[in-house]
Amino acid sequence: MKRIQIINGPNLNLLGTREPSVYGNQTFEAYYRDLKSKFPEIELDYFQSNTEGIIIDKLHETGFSYDGIVLNAGAYTHTSIAIADAIRSISAPVIEVHISNVFKREEFRHHSYLSEACKGCIVGFGLDSYRLAVDAILQF
Ligand code: DQA
Repeated sequence: MKRIQIINGPNLNLLGTREPSVYGNQTFEAYYRDLKSKFPEIELDYFQSNTEGIIIDKLHETGFSYDGIVLNAGAYTHTSIAIADAIRSISAPVIEVHISNVFKREEFRHHSYLSEACKGCIVGFGLDSYRLAVDAILQF
């Protein structure tokens, strides 16, 4: 059975109420329930933290045993060399995802420290970005 870990970074625990015009009205928990039901044949795990070091610990913990990691590092995408180094340090492929199309937004969101360390990036498809990333990992 394939194992895929979803890791969400800061403020993504507030999906559903946070800036709904950008991120939509659905909570991640509700979306995750639907997503799991679409992929009954895999183990799909979900983790969220607002803290950079805890995200790095989770990458280390899962990065040698899972078949892939779906990472939305939130604003750490645009700041964190430490998360980029963690991605480079593990063996599992990491897919960077963003709910919003960061390239249509403020200029500081156009640069990602993580993209170069990731297998690929999925940006701008709303919550469906996560499903696309899981589908991509299943093709590996
Ligand atoms: C985000 C985009 C980031 O710029 C922002 O800081 C987030 C969410 C997205 O999923 O669209 O927290 O990663």
